[in-house]
Amino acid sequence: MLQRDADGAPTPDLKIRLSDYQPPAWRIASVELVFDLDIASTEVYARLELESASATPTPLRLDGEGLELIELRLDGKRLSPLGYRVEAHALELSDLPASCVLESRVRIHPQDNTALEGLYLSGSAERGFLLTQCEAQGFRHITWFLDRPDVLTRYSVELRAEAARFPVLLAGGNAVGSGTLADGRHWARFDDPHPKPSYLFALVAGRLECLSQPYTTADGRAVTLNLWAEADAIGQCHYALGALQRAMRWDERSYGRNYDLDMFHVVATHDFNMGAMENKGLNIFNAKYLLADADTTTDEGFRAVEGVIGHEYFHNWSGNRVTCRDWFQLSLKEGFTVFRDQSFSADMHSQALKRIEDVATLRRMQFPEDAGPLAHPVRPAEYAEINNFYTATVYEKGAELIRMLAARVGPEAFRRGTDAYFARHDGSAATVEDLLAALGEAAAVDLTPYLAWYAQAGTPRLSARCHHEPATRRYVLRLAQHTAPTSGQADKHPLPIPVKLALFARDGRMLPLRLAGEADAAGSERVLELTDAAAEFVFEDIDEAPIPSLLRGFSAPVILECALPPDDLALLLLHDADGFNRWEAGQHLASDAFRAAHAGAAQHAALAAWTGALGALFAQADFPDAALLAELLAPPAISELEALVEPHDPDAVDAARRRLEQALAQALGASALAARYTALHAAEQGAHDAPAQARRHLKRRVLELWALVDAPAALAAAEAQFAQAAGMSERLAALRVLLRHGDAGMRHAALAAFRARHGQQPLVMDTWFAVQAEVPGAAALDTLRALLGDTAFTLRNPNRVRAVLGTFARQNRTAFHRADGAGYALLVAQLQALDKLNPQTAAALAQAFNGWARLEPKRRALAESHLRALAATLGLSRNLADIVQRSLA
Ligand code: PHE
Ligand code: ZN
Repeated sequence: MLQRDADGAPTPDLKIRLSDYQPPAWRIASVELVFDLDIASTEVYARLELESASATPTPLRLDGEGLELIELRLDGKRLSPLGYRVEAHALELSDLPASCVLESRVRIHPQDNTALEGLYLSGSAERGFLLTQCEAQGFRHITWFLDRPDVLTRYSVELRAEAARFPVLLAGGNAVGSGTLADGRHWARFDDPHPKPSYLFALVAGRLECLSQPYTTADGRAVTLNLWAEADAIGQCHYALGALQRAMRWDERSYGRNYDLDMFHVVATHDFNMGAMENKGLNIFNAKYLLADADTTTDEGFRAVEGVIGHEYFHNWSGNRVTCRDWFQLSLKEGFTVFRDQSFSADMHSQALKRIEDVATLRRMQFPEDAGPLAHPVRPAEYAEINNFYTATVYEKGAELIRMLAARVGPEAFRRGTDAYFARHDGSAATVEDLLAALGEAAAVDLTPYLAWYAQAGTPRLSARCHHEPATRRYVLRLAQHTAPTSGQADKHPLPIPVKLALFARDGRMLPLRLAGEADAAGSERVLELTDAAAEFVFEDIDEAPIPSLLRGFSAPVILECALPPDDLALLLLHDADGFNRWEAGQHLASDAFRAAHAGAAQHAALAAWTGALGALFAQADFPDAALLAELLAPPAISELEALVEPHDPDAVDAARRRLEQALAQALGASALAARYTALHAAEQGAHDAPAQARRHLKRRVLELWALVDAPAALAAAEAQFAQAAGMSERLAALRVLLRHGDAGMRHAALAAFRARHGQQPLVMDTWFAVQAEVPGAAALDTLRALLGDTAFTLRNPNRVRAVLGTFARQNRTAFHRADGAGYALLVAQLQALDKLNPQTAAALAQAFNGWARLEPKRRALAESHLRALAATLGLSRNLADIVQRSLA
């Protein structure tokens, strides 16, 4: 099929397939780059030492897009246009000697680069700075190259620019020299001793301030840590600098990994398509995940900064020292690194809470992806546009797979296995098989059955049925698995599913577990592995019917179907020692209550059990963990509940969820909520330790519930909290309640005060936009139009786009799915405009349509026709076209 590329050139819609993988026909022994930097026009000189992989060289095909070729030289001799062929996205040279030197000179235009891929300008032409983004295929927008991750080479980079306009010049590697040039220009040189693929190349040039700190690695290397930001933001880098040092220590201790260059730079930009990027020695961060201080950043925001700092730092080994053979292996670095950052955050804070947050994210983001038209395996088999595969499946589900493997082999073997993996593949490009082989060998276990998890899309449903046989004192657990077909993958196979479990007696005790055939009980918690479609497990010496606590800690990324009576779930909610499963029991109860409410029941046993158990926990003055309590007091997210009814009407789902919250607030009672709020308010001192954060978390939840049963009192409290708040967590929690429950006067006053205080801080202004875009109700679309027309709104800044349009389409379900289709029309019009500027961000935003086919018939037809109109747009980018076409397929 033919479609038009962003530049208007017709390109065949070719799919890249994993099964077609061929090793590179040419290697690059070294590369030297010289940049003559300027915002409007930058000249890039590249000198490649090329070596054919075979004695009889095949033609050399280099990748390049949007490059103005100035000159090509082969072994020092200028090539005439007859000596090469320039195609849409390739440069082909034939009849080359088996080893040769190719020099190229090209011109590029950073200021015109609104896609933020390759070399681009962050901020204004007068004050902004230049930077690069090369993953996945941005390097080909900079120079002609073998732009694929299995071509690793050593980089030597020289940057030249006007000294006054670009005082700071940075590239990855070690700084090896700098000096001045004629007419006010200067230069700086960097050598990176570690071979790397082109996607890890980076440079930064401009007016930036630095926060610097020495660090000595466990193996004795003196490193300088430099955090860079524009002058007005450098004061907000202290928290990230501390987090970076914690991450470095953690990786030394947990994985034996040390940093490996003299310098480590991290740069903050407000213009970034993603969260952050692990470029070797020069990480580049979306400012959202680097800048933090109490006045502008919530407690969750601080934790996100720490997590992303960890993530990008950990890539230095899982991704950089050992990289991916091809982009199908993306989860080899991303799933592994997400698992590493999750473990780091859990070690820094609370294991149970981190697990709850991560599973909630998986269910909110990845399960819907796996259940919709964009479902794909953790290791996809094919792609048309790789940028569309930086997904929750590759990242979050990929992390769950590593977690399963780590649990399967145990902590000691896991460490031996990762050590072996890093040693064996250092400086090269690896595959998922390589990692599994190293882990399996270390544990003497065959892990190849787990490869099926990488190849099969869709979330397995694990059903558990159990019964007790009083006569034999046996408890029989029957497990069965089933995965529904996904697009392009009709046949599904059984996967190995580790099921961690415990059995509870009615008094809340955990029972010793002895499987039939075993001589003795082996503890009271154990892991069963379901490898076939179904299996039966028999426990001995069980006197009365126990209550099973299954899939503890979420031991596999599956949907557990186990119909437990409400009283049993309530018992787990009150007594399960596994903090995760305690929360899970509550989620299960809330889901059952939701189904009943959605079906029209005013009362239901599950609802009574849920509110009753939570009421009891809420009344416990000594409940140990305020943050866990806050999590327990929240029903599942809308995006999870939508999956429970099919087809679904977003208004009905929303209404049923509200009834749940209303019932919970009533059960807790206005006076108890008021009393708890008052106590938490009195305890608030603006501290940032874990107990203080946990109290704020609970306080926010209590205020929200209080507003449902006594709005006037809660609003008065929120107004006072908003006015007095010492930090952003408190201010924002109050603002949200004011926007949902306050009258127009209150809402406008609060928004105006917030803007007056934070109008000059882009990240906080993103929040100002987002809190308005998420408010449901009849006026939501008018609000959205006003936000789009605000002087501070721009489609050129991805953070702003996500704050307004992303929040609207993903969090404000009733507004986006308005029955008249106006929400769809609005998003499609914005996508058409955005796609011309930034295809990657447009394609990510368009995924909000995911799940359209499961809507009730009227909305389904409207969503489909708007998607079809979008698909028919002339000049759609490959990124957006790929998403829209797969969504409709
Ligand atoms: N590799 C980055 C990360 O996960 C994400 C990213 C992908 C950033 C593509 C930019 C472009 O840490
Ligand atoms: Zn990553």
